[in-house]
Amino acid sequence: MSKICVVGTGYVGLVTGTCFADLGNQVTCLDVDHERIDKLNHGEMPIYEPGLEQLVSQNVRSGRLFFATDYQEALKEAEYAFIAVGTPSGNDGEADLQYVRAAAEAIADTVDWPIIVINKSTVPVGTGDWVAEVIQQRRGDHPLEFSVVSNPEFLREGSAISDFMNPDRVVLGSLQKEAAQKVANLYQPLRCTIMITDLRTAEMIKYASNAFLATRISFINEIANMCEALGADVNEVARGMGYDKRIGPSFLDAGLGWGGSCFPKDVKALEHMAVLHGTQPQLLQAVMEINRNQRRRAVMKLRKALGSLNDKTIGVLGLAFKPNTDDIRESPALEIIHLLQNEGAHIKAYDPQAMENAARVVQKVELCDNPYQVAENADGLLLATHWNEFKQLDFARIYQIMKHPILLDGRNLWDAEQLKSLGFKYMGVGRAVNGTFHEEE
Ligand SMILES: NC(=O)c1ccc[n+]([C@@H]2O[C@H](COP(=O)([O-])OP(=O)(O)OC[C@H]3O[C@@H](n4cnc5c(N)ncnc54)[C@H](O)[C@@H]3O)[C@@H](O)[C@H]2O)c1
Repeated sequence: MSKICVVGTGYVGLVTGTCFADLGNQVTCLDVDHERIDKLNHGEMPIYEPGLEQLVSQNVRSGRLFFATDYQEALKEAEYAFIAVGTPSGNDGEADLQYVRAAAEAIADTVDWPIIVINKSTVPVGTGDWVAEVIQQRRGDHPLEFSVVSNPEFLREGSAISDFMNPDRVVLGSLQKEAAQKVANLYQPLRCTIMITDLRTAEMIKYASNAFLATRISFINEIANMCEALGADVNEVARGMGYDKRIGPSFLDAGLGWGGSCFPKDVKALEHMAVLHGTQPQLLQAVMEINRNQRRRAVMKLRKALGSLNDKTIGVLGLAFKPNTDDIRESPALEIIHLLQNEGAHIKAYDPQAMENAARVVQKVELCDNPYQVAENADGLLLATHWNEFKQLDFARIYQIMKHPILLDGRNLWDAEQLKSLGFKYMGVGRAVNGTFHEEE
């Protein structure tokens, strides 16, 4: 059993801390957000993540998982301090490291015993060295015995616990191999591939992985747009490509583009790093531009179908950036809502989990209790997030209650033929054969 402190109780920190507790360690999760910690101490989850509430409560009851706002309390006798705070985009797209700095300084101020500091936040290449400098500077004449290990996180919101417990790989980077080996021991119960490398390489692996996945999505979206122009079906194209073992089927779903708390900021941060160091990230720039266009194309399709968007009511199904999360950061739905509103459209919307978060940021959006309220009197209906509960709606009823039976299936979730036979004008993404753009032009 090891003593671990996890700094930051967001999607990554809370899942990491809870899973390490479940593996038999004694873990204290620390956050500067008192409301978050109060909630957790009362058994309430500050975020929605399937299975998390139960796992937290089991480990709290077993006396292995604690929550605190005080660094003294949280770091008491800790051998490992995981930094899992946010690294949002700064003004120029660079990663904003103010929270990482604050966490590193607070660790330096608190600890007086040997400790391993582990960067789990996604941080620019070179940040591990910088964290070591921050700690050394903070300690001044009272040096601390510590090591810095980079341990980028690859979990996905919505399946975070299972991703943590069954990782494809764990990446550890450090100049101090002994420290990296100790962190590897924490992951030993998972019986997974553990790759130990140097600090900067580990940091780059995270950015390169996210940028590659974003590239695959932008690639298939570009192909989808060609499919619309040329009369092919992108779903089938992706299926045909995915059978090729060199390609594989994942991250080839055409749609409204990638969003969320990671891809947009990480691709931007990688581009920023590249430019800053004199290389030309042309591919990344195109990947981002294709993604922006994908939102604009959705608006264009609705505008085209309705003549104009001014004074039209558009219903939006889904606000979270993907299903099974309440996270709305950089959600395509919200960006499209904004673009639609700019053209004078009224918006009604519903999401199974993200309504509370959305209510804080959207303006002039009628938030509804269910998909049917959204569809009522709508001139067009946009499927923005492919939640399971949107898979099998009562479309005959929706046809009756919409003002104009226009559907834009932004996730290619629905059966185009069935909907057309009910009388809908159906538009998907890259599904020309099934009757989108190509046929209508
Ligand atoms: N969300 C994901 O799916 C995901 C996946 C892989 C990697 N990451 C990376 O992990 C990091 C965390 O992401 P997240 O989505 O969990 O963030 P988040 O915004 O959900 O949570 C961050 C938490 O850190 C807390 N915090 C900020 N400063 C602090 C400080 N000085 N001391 C203690 N707590 C502090 C905040 O109050 C907040 O609760 C980011 O770098 C992100 O890029 C995220």
